[in-house]
Amino acid sequence: MERLQKYIASCGVASRRKAEELITEGKVQVNGRKVTELGVKINPQKDKVKVNGQLLAQEKPVYYLLNKPKGVVTTTNDEKGRNTVIDLIETNTRIYPVGRLDYDTTGALILTNDGNLANLLMRPDSQVDKTYIAKVKGIVQIPDIQKLRNGIIIDGVKTKKASVRLKSVDKKKETSTVVLTIHEGKNHQIKKMFESLGYKVIKLRREKIAFLDLKGLMPGEYRNLSIKEVKVLYSLCKK
Ligand code: URA
Repeated sequence: MERLQKYIASCGVASRRKAEELITEGKVQVNGRKVTELGVKINPQKDKVKVNGQLLAQEKPVYYLLNKPKGVVTTTNDEKGRNTVIDLIETNTRIYPVGRLDYDTTGALILTNDGNLANLLMRPDSQVDKTYIAKVKGIVQIPDIQKLRNGIIIDGVKTKKASVRLKSVDKKKETSTVVLTIHEGKNHQIKKMFESLGYKVIKLRREKIAFLDLKGLMPGEYRNLSIKEVKVLYSLCKK
């Protein structure tokens, strides 16, 4: 037996959180009966689950690591008609990005139809490291590096402790390059952290998600994750 929202997520329809919304909004039927409460368990081999009238079937899970280029949006479709990260991946499977990188941010992005893994990776208390390289305008001062490490108040909430290293400074151009490893994924987090100290991020790249780096991937290129890599990601999420 499996929880209904977990099953819906495993069919690639939505993340687990979104699946819960679909249930409470009355959009889910089990064996012809509408289910609106959470916590119902189903037998994936026997029970027929419909979302918005469509019968679900468990798809084979697929996992991609993309080196996101600049100038594409991290959504499944964009109302302004801009290119999305989905357009870069050749697949007939309905996949979606895990988390978000800004339009002008490049780097590592996981895309999958596995709503359960997506949900675990995006949890606010996720312990999965994400490493960014930020080029900022100005010479970043050492006390500011310490502030970034200890946490900065953005949107009224203090960011968690981070690992931060000043990689280099270009005195002529008045820019600094800083490497940051964070667990969280608040909207525009890195840019806002620097902004609150008076620095503007002029280039941002996500170098790594946990152990997954961009080796062998030019911007716009992607690869499948191996079964072993997926297992390790699951185990990191459960820590
Ligand atoms: N932080 C940001 O500010 N932007 C991103 O795209 C990712 C993290």
